[in-house]
Order: sequence, then C-alpha cells, then structure tokens
Amino acid sequence: MFMTKKKRIFSGMQPTGILTLGNYLGAMRNWVALQDEYECIYSVVDLHSLTIRNEAKELREQRMSLLAQYLACGVDPEKSIVFMQSHVSAHAELNWVLGCYTYVGELNRMTQFKEKSAKHEENVNAGLFTYPVLMAADVLLYQTDLVPVGNDQKQHLEIARDIAERFNGVYGNVFQIPEPYIPKVGARIMSLQEPTSKMSKSDENKNSYISLLDPPQTIVKKFKRAVTDSEAVVRYDLEEKPGISNLISIYASVSGKTLEEIVEEFEGKGYGDFKVSVGEAVAETLRPVQERYQELMNSKDYLNDVLKKGAEDAARLASRTLDKVYKKVGLL
Ligand code: AMP
Ligand code: TRP
Repeated sequence: MFMTKKKRIFSGMQPTGILTLGNYLGAMRNWVALQDEYECIYSVVDLHSLTIRNEAKELREQRMSLLAQYLACGVDPEKSIVFMQSHVSAHAELNWVLGCYTYVGELNRMTQFKEKSAKHEENVNAGLFTYPVLMAADVLLYQTDLVPVGNDQKQHLEIARDIAERFNGVYGNVFQIPEPYIPKVGARIMSLQEPTSKMSKSDENKNSYISLLDPPQTIVKKFKRAVTDSEAVVRYDLEEKPGISNLISIYASVSGKTLEEIVEEFEGKGYGDFKVSVGEAVAETLRPVQERYQELMNSKDYLNDVLKKGAEDAARLASRTLDKVYKKVGLL
C-alpha cells in the first residue's frame, strides 16, 4: 500500500461511544472526502481511551463499534490504512521518546487537560497529562502532512509541531511537520440545547446532540426542540443568534447549500419550518450510514480482517520512522 508520492494524512478518534453529528461533520466526512487525493491513515486511538476509566468489556466493544462507524461513514480500507492504535507498538515507543522532548510547562497549558482534570478530579492521571505526546507520536510516526480534526484539537496539533521542530532542530530532518486541516463549514457544531458550547457525546442532556445512530423521528424531534431565539428570522449571526446560526451551518453542511442560499430559502418562514427541514436533511444524510453500520456490526470477521491488514501496513510505515528516531538518539 502507498507506493505514490501523494501527501499523507493521519487522524484518529477515541472509542468512547457513538459519534455525534459534530464528529461527523467536523471530522469524519472530511476523512472520507480526502481519501482519493491523499494517502490516508485512520486509527481508532484506543490507547488514548485509557486516560479515563473504562470496563474492559466495554472498551473492547466500543473499539469495534468505532471501527464500524468509520467504515459506515465511508472510510474505505481499500484506499486507506485503517487500524487500531494499540496494534502498532511503535506508537507507545515513540511516545516515550517524544515525552523526553516535551516540557511540563507546555503540557500545563493544554486547555483539554485543564478541562478534563477539572471534570475528573478523582483521576487526574499522568496519562491524561501526557495525552498530547501520544497524539504527537501518532501523527509524527507516519510523516504526516495534514491532520483533519475539529477546532478543539488545534492546540494539540500545535504542540505536536513544536515537539517535531525541537527534535528536528537537534537531529536534522527526522519528522515531517504536520499541518492542521480544519473544515470551513462544520468545524464547530454547537449543542442544540446550549448553542454557545460545542456538541458533545458526553453531554448529559441527550437532546443537545444528534447521535449518528438516532432514528429519523428522534433526529427531527431533537431539531424541533433546539434552542433558538425570539426574533423569528432565519439569519446568520453568531453573536446575536448562536442557535439559528448553528442550525444554518448544519443545514449548509448536509445540503451543500451556501449560508446565503439558506437564508433566502427561509425568508418569511418561521423557525418551525426551518427546524423540520434541517432535521429531515440530517436524517436523510445519516440513513445510509446507519444501514451500513448495522451490516458491519454483523460482520465481525470482516472487521477483524480489516484490522489485521491495517496493523501490518501501519506497522511497516511506523517502523521506518521509529528506527530513524532510535538511531538518532543512540538506541540503535
Ligand atoms: P471527540 O469527540 O472529542 O473525541 O472528537 C473527535 C473528532 O471530532 C475531533 O477531530 C474533534 O475535533 C471533532 N469534533 C468533536 N466535536 C465536534 C463538534 N461539536 N464540532 C465539530 N467537530 C467536532
Ligand atoms: N486527541 C484526538 C481527539 O480527542 C484524538 C487523536 C489521538 C488524534 N491521536 C490523534 C487526532 C492523531 C488526530 C491525530 O479527538
């Protein structure tokens, strides 16, 4: 696999439940679209999930489910390398080396660490703190050019670049310096109930997010209940109308229409009509994904074959970088 000189893409998600519409529009859909133009490597980053306590059985199931969600959304193992992070030991090995080139001060500045340690006060473990180092290892192992992620991962990518530049500064050109790839529309899908915070699957209020596997009626119902404002004009204004603006963005992402076209389409119509149209468009977009997901979850042998091949292909690429790193630091 990968004999060409196309640019390389790496991305991953943690296996922590069913993806939301935010994950789908902010990340997944781009992953799929990029597969023809780039050499893509997509990982289920299961090692990252250990930073939070999980039941072993649950983690095992969630990793397979996430793999099936990737494929159901259109990630194609014939075009891209799809694998489980823990199946390629080079991730943990490079993580250690890079940790020795990362400063406590820079990790201390990570917004996600601050947020997560406030949320899980009882378990502020070292893994949570060094999480961005493992993410840097993920990306740098594959000489990645571009990393498609949502806005919230930008800071983690910046630290990955800093670590890579620092290492290259000492040892010469070992790592490709990765760039973030953030979509123009959909980079930050907001909660349907609290449109100033992002849509998240860990939200306690299930009405605040659309799950990739919500049935169509549920999707429409959740959109009908979405928090908006009292102006009753469909107009894009992030400051004054975060709720309606979020719905406009979602509609634009799933329909391919521009913000202007949408505003025009709903001129003189109330929020009720608009919400139903958005809900129906989202349900229609997710329908084939849901069908494919069910099929895949009934094809465990196929999923295991995908993982086996993915791990082989990924390990081959990763070992080249790891060997180079070990040689540079004096371990080979
Ligand atoms: P997470 O759900 O935090 O594990 O994120 C998985 C991927 O989806 C990352 O690339 C995030 O940046 C992206 N993502 C998560 N939530 C959203 C959202 N509400 N809007 C856009 N992208 C998101
Ligand atoms: N930290 C990312 C998230 O929470 C997941 C992730 C781990 C990742 N390693 C990565 C994303 C490498 C892109 C590239 O969403």
